[in-house]
Amino acid sequence: MDYLNIQKPVLPLLKATEKVLARHIGSEIRLISELRQRTPVAKGKKIRAAFLFLLAGMNRTKSKGLPVLGAAIEMLHLSSLVHDDIIDHSSWRRGEKTPNHHFGDCLSVLWGDFLFITSIRMLTRGGGAAAIDMLAEASRQMIEGQILEFENNFNYRIQPRTYYNIIRKKTSSMFAGIAALAARLAGKDAASAANFYRFGQDFGMIFQISDDLLDLFSDRAGKSRFQDLKEGKVTLPYILLLQGGGLPLVKGFDRPTPGPLLARCRDLGIQERSLAVIDRYHRKCSRFLRSFPPSPYRSSLESLLEFVRYREY
Ligand code: IPE
Ligand code: IPE
Ligand code: MG
Ligand code: MG
Ligand code: MG
Repeated sequence: MDYLNIQKPVLPLLKATEKVLARHIGSEIRLISELRQRTPVAKGKKIRAAFLFLLAGMNRTKSKGLPVLGAAIEMLHLSSLVHDDIIDHSSWRRGEKTPNHHFGDCLSVLWGDFLFITSIRMLTRGGGAAAIDMLAEASRQMIEGQILEFENNFNYRIQPRTYYNIIRKKTSSMFAGIAALAARLAGKDAASAANFYRFGQDFGMIFQISDDLLDLFSDRAGKSRFQDLKEGKVTLPYILLLQGGGLPLVKGFDRPTPGPLLARCRDLGIQERSLAVIDRYHRKCSRFLRSFPPSPYRSSLESLLEFVRYREY
């Protein structure tokens, strides 16, 4: 199933979310309007909002606050991308040049802050204390993850468990928080919310490992290929390559001639072995979803799992 079909059961909610996002992102300050123009808000996949809405649907939750909640989550995510592109020296995002490319790091830090606090403000007005708590905790863990990653830049001897710790914090924390929030909105008990949290965490692991594969294998992700490699982010595929004696290839990597490194990756079965790791999380996620009655929401979540397992963008 393609991503458009996956979104189908929650398309009206996603459309409403886009409207909320567009309404909240402006300011009378000229430079902010320019920053806004250089930030392709509508081009994001909105996977976190879709994840929330599909889980809410599966739980038969009817909350009229869902579009604002989805918009706040996507805005928070966007702020983390603006900051991430500064940290990662990235010039491309969503198929366009990044704010840090156009405006430099200083202004882009402020732009990321502006988006971050706007996302929180959207929720303080609606009185969503549980949502604010979730976003604050997820952000805290995300920043911890980004700092732990920074600490391990160019650490070619990184332990796999450190890598998993980084991605659990920087990416899974948000999906976990969203899933737990979906449980809370449905009035589920603490034990059930903990199961939802773990499901979101496993989903997030799949999401980030597949993102880490994009760095090696995709030209369609809308971001610079081999940027992780250049920036010394030693992610799962690169860990496997290094374990297979790939250090000289990694150190001597030259972007215009990726052939030798890609050939070694093929020989070592890097993609297949990374997918095998993904599949461990995938099986846990599938089992969780199967514990719910069939519904279009559950089907879409199952298809979303397939989509994130093996994606090109
Ligand atoms: C990118 O997230 C950052 C990661 C956590 C890997 P997405 O792949 O969801 O980015 P957009 O929002 O669709 O651009
Ligand atoms: C970013 O991870 C995770 C965040 C929490 C923002 P990446 O640095 O791999 O994300 P991309 O590849 O730039 O989207
Ligand atoms: Mg990045
Ligand atoms: Mg990064
Ligand atoms: Mg990445």
